[in-house]
Amino acid sequence: MERSVASHPVDVLMPELEIHEAVKDYYGRVLKGTSDLKSNACLSPTTPMAPAVCRALKEVHPEVTSRYYGCGLVVPECLEGCRILDLGCGAGRDCYMLSCLVGERGLVTGIEMTEAQLDVARKHVDYHTKKFGYKKPNTEFVQGYIEALQRAKIKENFYDIIISNCVVNLSPDKLRVLKEAHHVLKDGGELYFSDIYCNHRLPAEIRTHKVLWGECLGGALWWEDLLRLAQEVGFCTPRLVAATAVTIGNKEFQTILGDYEFVSATYRLFKIPRSLSQSSCQVIYDGNITGHENFLKFDAYHTFKKNEMVTIDGELAGILKMSRFAEEFTFQVHVENEIGINCVTPKTVNWNPFEFTHTQEGSVDVATGGCCGSPTPCC
Ligand SMILES: C[S@@+](CC[C@H](N)C(=O)[O-])C[C@H]1O[C@@H](n2cnc3c(N)ncnc32)[C@H](O)[C@@H]1O
Repeated sequence: MERSVASHPVDVLMPELEIHEAVKDYYGRVLKGTSDLKSNACLSPTTPMAPAVCRALKEVHPEVTSRYYGCGLVVPECLEGCRILDLGCGAGRDCYMLSCLVGERGLVTGIEMTEAQLDVARKHVDYHTKKFGYKKPNTEFVQGYIEALQRAKIKENFYDIIISNCVVNLSPDKLRVLKEAHHVLKDGGELYFSDIYCNHRLPAEIRTHKVLWGECLGGALWWEDLLRLAQEVGFCTPRLVAATAVTIGNKEFQTILGDYEFVSATYRLFKIPRSLSQSSCQVIYDGNITGHENFLKFDAYHTFKKNEMVTIDGELAGILKMSRFAEEFTFQVHVENEIGINCVTPKTVNWNPFEFTHTQEGSVDVATGGCCGSPTPCC
């Protein structure tokens, strides 16, 4: 069958209002909990996690957890005191987990368009404030659209980190979402988010199927389009953190989706002023980030071991120097051909999440227990 494929990553086939209303109906009325999902897309893979993250998750109220529809773990490192914005926070599971990890001096803002989801999130603010022993809440929930953060009075140049878990695919206008996110991030801040990606641009009959859209499949971006959109907005190259193949788990959907493949992938996109171009350099991780004392797994291809000198390219050098990671590294000018005992040279990187799921690194990531280093997942 001939399928008509969009010619541009942001071609919109259904009016924005129609998509927003269909998605609100899906998450506000149709779904009452994780078990109502009709496919496997909005189910998080069993990801190994650091003990502190497991502890934080166990503190989250069960009503909030029962309405979790994420597809990945969104816990960047070095969180203490950070201001975090969660795009499409749903019932607030990730907001509350991060509320525990940023500590009382930090702030977590969740933005969400569906009232029923927001009601659950807001209902449990006091519960978590008490649970974490804080004098006042460090979590707030705002009603609004992720395509219109400024209209929702989200402050510009304010956030250290933006997270999002399985939401950007649901937006009819991904370019605007990235532009708005870029606008509210501080310089040096990052968008760290999990989402569903496809191995090609999807055809019109899949992109206009409302249930497939609601299930986070119909609106999935071709992963290469994420790289294009990010560049257009002014972010650094999206750096892949983790990726897991998605099995559909529904025969009817599988027939419509045919040979298209999907992954759940986490990328980190930094906002670094373009004027600050950097040369490659050598860095040493000092091991002072809580929970990452022995090594820091920065992305799928860069794991910094404590006290080990590593040569990194100019873009990564700019990211480390300009972001909250600056104080965690010692920087040295890159001396060409210097091969010290502790000097590791850069690997060739490939940000394709589909290839990553087939590589040694992709499987090692799961098998070795990732950041906590235990042989099995902690939670
Ligand atoms: C798959 S759920 C994920 C929710 C949450 N991140 C989690 O992990 O449980 C998607 C959520 O994003 C919200 N959402 C979708 N599109 C949105 C938009 N354009 N603006 C604001 N929220 C949106 C939906 O209402 C829904 O609650």
